[in-house]
Amino acid sequence: MIVNQIDTKGRPVIFYGAGHEAFFEVAKYHKKGVAPACFCDRDAAKWGTKFLGFDCISLEQAVKQYPDFLMVVTPRYPLRFHIMEDLLERGLVTKDQILNYEPWTKRKSCHDLCGYIDFHYSKRLLMCCSCDSTETIYKSHCVGFNGSIADSLDAFFTRREGVLSDLNGEAQELAQYCSNCRWAVEDYWPVDQRFRRIAYSVGGGCQFNCVYCGSVARHTMISETWEKSATFPEVMEYLEQNNLIHPDAIIEIGTGEICVNPRQNEIFDVADNYFTFLFTNAGIYSERIAAQIKNGNALQLLVSVDAGTEETFRKVKGTPAFKNVRENLKKYRRFGNSIYIKYVFLPGINDTDEDVDGFIALAKEVDVREITISRNFEDGFAALPKQTLNMIQRMIVSARENRIPVTPFFSLFSKEDALLISTF
Ligand SMILES: C[S@@+](CC[C@H](N)C(=O)[O-])C[C@H]1O[C@@H](n2cnc3c(N)ncnc32)[C@H](O)[C@@H]1O
Ligand code: SF4
Ligand code: SF4
Repeated sequence: MIVNQIDTKGRPVIFYGAGHEAFFEVAKYHKKGVAPACFCDRDAAKWGTKFLGFDCISLEQAVKQYPDFLMVVTPRYPLRFHIMEDLLERGLVTKDQILNYEPWTKRKSCHDLCGYIDFHYSKRLLMCCSCDSTETIYKSHCVGFNGSIADSLDAFFTRREGVLSDLNGEAQELAQYCSNCRWAVEDYWPVDQRFRRIAYSVGGGCQFNCVYCGSVARHTMISETWEKSATFPEVMEYLEQNNLIHPDAIIEIGTGEICVNPRQNEIFDVADNYFTFLFTNAGIYSERIAAQIKNGNALQLLVSVDAGTEETFRKVKGTPAFKNVRENLKKYRRFGNSIYIKYVFLPGINDTDEDVDGFIALAKEVDVREITISRNFEDGFAALPKQTLNMIQRMIVSARENRIPVTPFFSLFSKEDALLISTF
């Protein structure tokens, strides 16, 4: 299924936007046989610098330098569509020149409602990844799996249309959660509603025991329902045959721990044909993961390390495997640079100088692509204590000093904390 090759007929391709999302777009287009001629960005501070090894210049200069250009707009929608609209209105590009052009529409929606599906261990199909622990699944955001992929998907699409219609109309019944959700915004969203993120999180167990993990998948073995009626190959074959998968779709592998999952080979066999986001605790080294990194399918290998010392690691992850994880990360790094490490800040548990410094040392040693900063989302959006915020600041400053890109998940913090963190 993956990525048809694109023939640019020798025309140079300008990548617009030298930020967080650009890495994924470069990796995707690399698989399609397209490399950037240069990056351009609105931020003048980036002009004259290198980004991912390519020149970053102003749009004006790029257009002059490459008059016959094609373009990829790298930020995620809705911003992507605002940039396209602006460039088109100013007559700087035509639709034909934008390789990732697609029609959009203005309405209230979110990334999940535009193309997410999770085949979930609770024997349901979920349309929202913000409600994945059994207790908090919003009833309106899922349909039960009734043994037939076709019937269940039909019900899923009808329900999703209902949620979108209520969200944008008078009736609120199906949109009661979305109406209060910070991710539902009126903006430009794609018309094409095919799946762009597909998670098959049907369970499979986990050998770790993280203090914050609410994922029931870690205790759940794959149920007979999924094993017999809808294995991953069967599900994907149905979606493919019915043209329900967007060509840039990403498969998210993170059901419990993939490296102890009894069906891991079957899952990887399918995932090898797609772009993937791999979530693993890295306690076990996997040749299949290494291969995904090497062949460029894994746009992201995300490992939540959450500690900078062996002692804290044991406290947070429930097992003494800090050194082991570090060695496995170093092994994976040999195959590519899509390694992201994460720190879930837990007040009073891992918010010390020693842990932050140890984590940064690990990031340097492994030479990760990026650090992401998170918090325990089971706590809701509660404000964090001063000490934890100080340690987030320490991590951000230290990462910058060491030239390691760092991205906080702003949407998980309280508005005040997010604002403060954005000033660090
Ligand atoms: C549920 S895990 C499954 C995959 C794999 N076992 C792992 O740990 O990466 C997927 C991701 O969810 C994150 N996660 C789980 N529970 C969380 C929580 N309560 N707060 C923040 N992140 C959480 C983990 O840090 C991990 O990165
Ligand atoms: S609850 Fe929020 S994230 Fe989930 S589907 Fe609704 S708007 Fe999207
Ligand atoms: S390693 Fe992943 S699945 Fe296992 S307990 Fe930790 S967060 Fe949960």
